[in-house]
Amino acid sequence: MSGKNILIIGGTSGIGRALAECYLTLGCVVGVSGRRQALLDELKRGNPQRVFTYAADITALSCADTINRAHEDMGKIDIIIICSGIGEINSSLQPAPELDTVKTNVLGFTDAAVVAYNYFEKNLPQRGGQGALVGISSIASFRGSDLAPSYYASKAYVSNYLEGLRKKALKNKLNLKVCTIIPGFVDTAMAKGVGGKEGLFWVAPTDKAARQIARAIEKGKPVAYITKRWRLIAWILKILPDFVYNKI
Ligand SMILES: NC(=O)c1ccc[n+]([C@@H]2O[C@H](COP(=O)([O-])OP(=O)(O)OC[C@H]3O[C@@H](n4cnc5c(N)ncnc54)[C@H](OP(=O)(O)O)[C@@H]3O)[C@@H](O)[C@H]2O)c1
Repeated sequence: MSGKNILIIGGTSGIGRALAECYLTLGCVVGVSGRRQALLDELKRGNPQRVFTYAADITALSCADTINRAHEDMGKIDIIIICSGIGEINSSLQPAPELDTVKTNVLGFTDAAVVAYNYFEKNLPQRGGQGALVGISSIASFRGSDLAPSYYASKAYVSNYLEGLRKKALKNKLNLKVCTIIPGFVDTAMAKGVGGKEGLFWVAPTDKAARQIARAIEKGKPVAYITKRWRLIAWILKILPDFVYNKI
């Protein structure tokens, strides 16, 4: 792993931050973006030689600038992980949280995914080697939700979008692995916001989730469940008839 350069979009906290720490432990150079400058500074202070930071709001659709700057700072980018996301319970269906979720998880994600794919399409053939484009979807992607409709729908979009890019990379014989990460519950502020603290089970610590994600990327897996047992929940969600699902 040492010698690889990783860009984590949305790496100031939670899963993204744990991924930054995991890759630093593996000897990589890491670029991290997010809105919270104080957290970016903290990461940089911890490892000034191997951390580059980019204050950016993904909803400003400015990922091209982030990726260009990261390429200049690091010389090349081997792996881009789109981790940023928001989600909250919105049982009274207020418009603002629904629309904010779409802006971050759909619009912002799309900007990042498009720019990242194009970056690899332009740079991989020139320099050889393999790239990885990774997005964080969710177990929420498999069904609709009455409590957080926008969040669940946005994650279905993320999964489908990544599948499209995976197909495109394959057809174009681009040496790019496109990886969809499907976490169940991971112990972050977000998990409590979307699922409500009481309903949580099989909650993975962030460092364990990060190690499993890094391993899945290294193996070039198209889809990876985090932790692995969430594959079972995904299977149940897919086959559950509507009349049962609607009662949950
Ligand atoms: N935790 C879980 O149980 C779980 C389960 C399934 C999927 N996920 C997914 O995992 C990803 C990471 O979430 P997390 O659980 O680690 O939560 P988190 O700790 O809240 O992390 C979210 C990250 O997204 C960034 N972000 C949010 N809005 C942004 C914006 N407008 N512009 C740029 N960055 C933004 C945040 O950075 P700033 O606030 O500094 O901008 C932060 O680094 C999300 O996509 C989430 O949907 C989480």
